[in-house]
Amino acid sequence: MKIKWGVIGCGGIAYRRTIPGMMLSENSELVAVMDTNFEMAQKAKDEFGAKYAFATVEEVLALEEVDAVYIATPVFCHKAQAIAAAKAKKHILLEKPMGLTVAEAQEITACCDAEGVKIGVGLLMRFSAYHQAMKELIAAGTIGEVVSMRAQFTCWYPDIEGSWRQDKSKSGGGALVDMGIHCIDLLQYISGLKAEAVSCFAQTQTFNYPVDDSAALLMKMNNGSTAYVDANFNIPDDAARCRMEFYGTKGSMLAEGTIGQDERGTVEVITSDATEYDAQQNREEKASTFIEVTTGNMYEKEISSFAASILEDTAPEVPASDAIFVQKVVENAYASSEQGCVVRI
Ligand SMILES: NC(=O)c1ccc[n+]([C@@H]2O[C@H](COP(=O)([O-])OP(=O)(O)OC[C@H]3O[C@@H](n4cnc5c(N)ncnc54)[C@H](O)[C@@H]3O)[C@@H](O)[C@H]2O)c1
Repeated sequence: MKIKWGVIGCGGIAYRRTIPGMMLSENSELVAVMDTNFEMAQKAKDEFGAKYAFATVEEVLALEEVDAVYIATPVFCHKAQAIAAAKAKKHILLEKPMGLTVAEAQEITACCDAEGVKIGVGLLMRFSAYHQAMKELIAAGTIGEVVSMRAQFTCWYPDIEGSWRQDKSKSGGGALVDMGIHCIDLLQYISGLKAEAVSCFAQTQTFNYPVDDSAALLMKMNNGSTAYVDANFNIPDDAARCRMEFYGTKGSMLAEGTIGQDERGTVEVITSDATEYDAQQNREEKASTFIEVTTGNMYEKEISSFAASILEDTAPEVPASDAIFVQKVVENAYASSEQGCVVRI
């Protein structure tokens, strides 16, 4: 059996990544594509062989045969569209961040619960085989107790006239909420730890738009460790490495290029049996290993996983509760930056 999908907002990430991923999914079928830019909807329909192209959400939701919708519109559209979809009894895979605020995300989730539909969130980097292998290694104690972590996700995003991402009322914020959200989620997901407090500097350093083009935040985690996230819209793509690092009492895991839209990168694992104090603080090269995994397409995995949660009536792999918690960290980070203080979550 296959889940039949309608896509709401099919012109951006949906067109570039998620619908191509859906085409590879064995338990999914694309039925309808919708975009307020109807030409875009028609283009997607022709290219991916959907049955219908629409310019309104209502037309998608009126289709009996649609089981689930994937919502990939600008953030300010999410709440109304997700609530309308839940009321039409459609399961929802909603892009990140769920809404402009935590309150919006909670309202969407409450409506899905009341209507008895599933909601999953597009924090798709959890599906990277590298990230899942790193999660397993930490859970197995390979690097001991985690004491320090870091994740970085950046792009080059100059001033663009009319961009919804550069308008806080439409996006909820800048680099931190758009890119940093993945880092916060991955650090928590891979380590199994949760943020308890956050301190942040978010500012517009390079461009002229009113949302942050650079943000750095420090989280205190629930095992006493600290985690650092940097998210930037002002680092050229070809100069970025998007590193992620985990340090523990028995070793470290150093990832490069695994945070992104392609399932690739490298992860180096270093383990140590040191117990005694070494006054020389020897750091000569220690033999390390590189994780080997079979890579695929994270968007295909994201779609197949959510479809499976509907077919098998199990909890989505990226539940709304996790996405809400991450959004809480983001919201508190912005408050920390504005007020110049540490905020408990
Ligand atoms: N997970 C990821 O890899 C990833 C990557 C990029 C974006 N995103 C998320 O996806 C969402 C969309 O981002 P994007 O970069 O694709 O944006 P975008 O602006 O590139 O594309 C959005 C599409 O939605 C359409 N649209 C606008 N208003 C609409 C409405 N009211 N109803 C239907 N369609 C409408 C636009 O015409 C456009 O085709 C955001 O939540 C963003 O954070 C996720």
